[in-house]
Amino acid sequence: MKPKVFITRKIPEEALKKISRSCEVSIWDKEDVPVPREVLEREIVNADGLYSLLTDNIDDELMERAENLKVISNMAVGYNNIDLEAAAKRGIMVTNTPGVLTETTADLTFALILAAARRLFEASDFLRRGEWKTWSPMLLTGQDVYGATLGIIGMGRIGEAVARRAKGFNMKILYHNRKRRPEAEKELGAVYVDMETLLKESDFVCIMTPYTPETHGLIGEKELQLMKKTAILINTARGGIVNEDALYKALKNGDIYAAGLDVFENEPVPTDHPLLTLPNVVALPHIGSASRKTRITMANLAAENLLLALDGKVPPNLVPYQI
Ligand code: DGY
Repeated sequence: MKPKVFITRKIPEEALKKISRSCEVSIWDKEDVPVPREVLEREIVNADGLYSLLTDNIDDELMERAENLKVISNMAVGYNNIDLEAAAKRGIMVTNTPGVLTETTADLTFALILAAARRLFEASDFLRRGEWKTWSPMLLTGQDVYGATLGIIGMGRIGEAVARRAKGFNMKILYHNRKRRPEAEKELGAVYVDMETLLKESDFVCIMTPYTPETHGLIGEKELQLMKKTAILINTARGGIVNEDALYKALKNGDIYAAGLDVFENEPVPTDHPLLTLPNVVALPHIGSASRKTRITMANLAAENLLLALDGKVPPNLVPYQI
């Protein structure tokens, strides 16, 4: 009998075909509507495998209904949407898609650095509104990226890829991480500093750390106050790492210069969110890994993880969990 798999969204054709060859597939086949909770609750009951997205909340209560579930394959590098403890106590494997989105996400992070520093969206809107009357010495002046200091919070794969790009811009690289990264220090000239030094000395503070209970609200009022008035905060990790009320106040009061945000605590961010009223915020709809090639590769990798687990093998991207 073929294993039963539930896929929580329309996914690239190639990945769907791969899974369909050896599994009985049920799918929430919508592109832009997340699977409703009641559908997920119904489908999980008979599923041997779940192919999920970061928008699906896979909690203890849901897993309680899933008597046959062997694997949850998340099509994302992040897995904060999955209760790992609940999965571990039931022997359910959890997998993610690391590595394949590193460079694409680092590209987008750097795009945000440049856009926020050089006020690209403000400038473009200014032109389109017909307000461009003449070249003027101080018109739409921003901050330099070349030669500035970049502070990376969370020196994992993506942090390192951002640092490699920063080298090309002759930036000084500071980082803070749970563990020191001697290779990054040697190869990229990155300097390990404590959090306070990073916040005080960086022109760009880049959040690249996973979202966990420990990193929830990591950047709040106190941290924002430590930053330079000319500093720019970039977040392409998860919205909940930053306290958005505190960020709004800091940006509004000129305590920091600007922010480039690809992620928000609640997504999609409501269009009347205070942060979106500020000209010094560049806001994007969580598109860090959104190149066509990378998303197809992520979808295929998630399919491979799922199929290997269902075949009784240990998938390569098993998320580690220690009780
Ligand atoms: C992830 O994979 O966790 C990103 O947020 C989306 O690619």
